[in-house]
Amino acid sequence: MLWSIFASLLAAGLVTADNITATVNLSVSKGKPVHWASGFIYGIPDTPNQIPDHWYTDIGFRYGRAGGAQLEAPARGWIWGLSEYKGRLESTLSNYRTCRKYGADFILLPHDVWGTDHANSSTVWPGDGGDWSDYDLFIKTLMKDLKANNALKGLVWDIWNEPDISIFWERDQQQWIDLYIRTHKLLREDPSFHSVQISGPSLAYRPVSGNTWWSNWLAQIAGNKTIPEQYSYHLEGETSDWDNDLQNTNGTLATLLQNYGLPDRQININEYANYGEQVPAGAAWWISRLERYNAFGLRGNWLGGWTLHDLMANLLTKKSDPTDYNATDYAPAPEFQVYKYYKGNMTGHRVETSGTGDRLFDVYATVDSDKVRILSGTRITAGNWQITVTGMSAVGLPSEGTVDIQTWGFAGTSVYEEVDSPSDRGIVSHTYSGDVLTFPIFQTDASTAWAFEFSR
Ligand SMILES: *[C@@H]1O[C@H](CO)[C@@H](O)[C@H](O)[C@H]1NC(C)=O
Ligand SMILES: *[C@@H]1O[C@H](CO)[C@@H](O)[C@H](O)[C@H]1NC(C)=O
Ligand SMILES: *[C@@H]1O[C@H](CO)[C@@H](O)[C@H](O)[C@H]1NC(C)=O
Ligand SMILES: *[C@@H]1O[C@H](CO)[C@@H](O)[C@H](O)[C@H]1NC(C)=O
Ligand SMILES: *[C@@H]1O[C@H](CO)[C@@H](O)[C@H](O)[C@H]1NC(C)=O
Ligand SMILES: *[C@@H]1O[C@H](CO)[C@@H](O)[C@H](O)[C@H]1NC(C)=O
Ligand SMILES: *[C@@H]1O[C@H](CO)[C@@H](O)[C@H](O)[C@H]1NC(C)=O
Repeated sequence: MLWSIFASLLAAGLVTADNITATVNLSVSKGKPVHWASGFIYGIPDTPNQIPDHWYTDIGFRYGRAGGAQLEAPARGWIWGLSEYKGRLESTLSNYRTCRKYGADFILLPHDVWGTDHANSSTVWPGDGGDWSDYDLFIKTLMKDLKANNALKGLVWDIWNEPDISIFWERDQQQWIDLYIRTHKLLREDPSFHSVQISGPSLAYRPVSGNTWWSNWLAQIAGNKTIPEQYSYHLEGETSDWDNDLQNTNGTLATLLQNYGLPDRQININEYANYGEQVPAGAAWWISRLERYNAFGLRGNWLGGWTLHDLMANLLTKKSDPTDYNATDYAPAPEFQVYKYYKGNMTGHRVETSGTGDRLFDVYATVDSDKVRILSGTRITAGNWQITVTGMSAVGLPSEGTVDIQTWGFAGTSVYEEVDSPSDRGIVSHTYSGDVLTFPIFQTDASTAWAFEFSR
């Protein structure tokens, strides 16, 4: 649609301004960037240093999460015996050390060390028939080995992953809640684990009223005083699903917590974005959301087998064959450039933003001594929106005048494509008045993210 036609539809009241306007308020600082979104699950080779340092440091790697998933014999996990448990532990410890090398925290996935990917409804599950002895031995063995390997610093124990999805939990809901409460108590009984954070429930589905996995868990953790340091859950559903959005769940979780008399805690979306959203536009949309809610986020990982243990959850590709685990000719996949700009260029302090009312377009913005920088992305859809920047004088600009906006484009449609840098899309002058700058976004594809910069 031409902007003039769109503007006249707007004037005629056929679309609401709220649905098309994302805002940036330069007067409101949200503090220093900590790169809430720079985490990913799995994606780290078990061979130390296989991915060179700069790939991690360029994105400000903040959070990893692993447990040796999808390894075959002799590393299928606890249910296959102590030596197969040790195989998974070695993978986990290697990934832990890689995370710590870059200052990232590490979320341990005990369900992987147990071996859920080599289990089914006929194999043993924790607490079967009311017998917890084998599970307790598993937890105590894992605690002892983590301690012996000096792997407690920066550790988050994620009690059980996605029990509401049958591949990860083949028993009923109460048996999982019992597992959660039992594990929480076992960890808290050991003084050497005091600094280890606990996260949960790591459910696949959202904290909304009517979800009994959430309500029953919340009621019983309140009753047992086994409250995790981080409330964790996943946002990897359909983009059309209204619930599948922090803008919804930040509020619905707050309501549930109030209902059960539970305190606010750090939020960790320890799997975010579905596979289709792993393009630059999706990355920028998710970064904007996670930054607004000060929630940690770890990119979901849609790979399998050895490739699951490589490619930094599709931030990297390879010049030769990206699915060849042993190849080391790493190259940046399209989204890598978004995270690199987010970490390396969006310096200074963060400012307040809001996304569009249709929830399809969002922005993250920073102000440094030289420039204002705005990153924008869509929920993998084309469309026309606009960005309104208020408080121009708060960064020392006149309340009316002209700014030259430099645009950078972050392109790429395939996670296996190499994209070496953002592209320079030129400079356009925009006049503004009343301390407010508005400029249009013509998004003609579903994958490109944009960065806009102007000097202050
Ligand atoms: C921007 O923030 C300032 C300071 O809190 C506030 O006075 C102003 O109303 C905000 N502007 C908009 C458009 O929300
Ligand atoms: C469950 O897994 C066990 C061990 O791998 C295997 O022997 C058995 O056939 C599987 N059962 C089903 C129903 O798939
Ligand atoms: C404590 O947890 C157990 C599950 O392990 C549950 O049966 C019990 O109802 C909980 N207690 C309270 C007071 O919620
Ligand atoms: C998110 O929810 C918490 C309550 O759990 C609230 O304090 C906070 O203001 C909310 N964040 C935003 C940006 O609305
Ligand atoms: C990597 O190379 C080693 C040594 O050649 C080989 O044993 C192993 O199977 C390879 N791994 C994968 C996943 O291809
Ligand atoms: C980001 O910052 C680096 C280092 O200062 C600079 O070389 C690069 O040109 C910047 N990129 C963009 C897109 O502004
Ligand atoms: C605004 O967006 C919402 C959500 O997509 C949609 O239901 C509504 O129809 C839109 N309103 C207008 C006036 O376009």
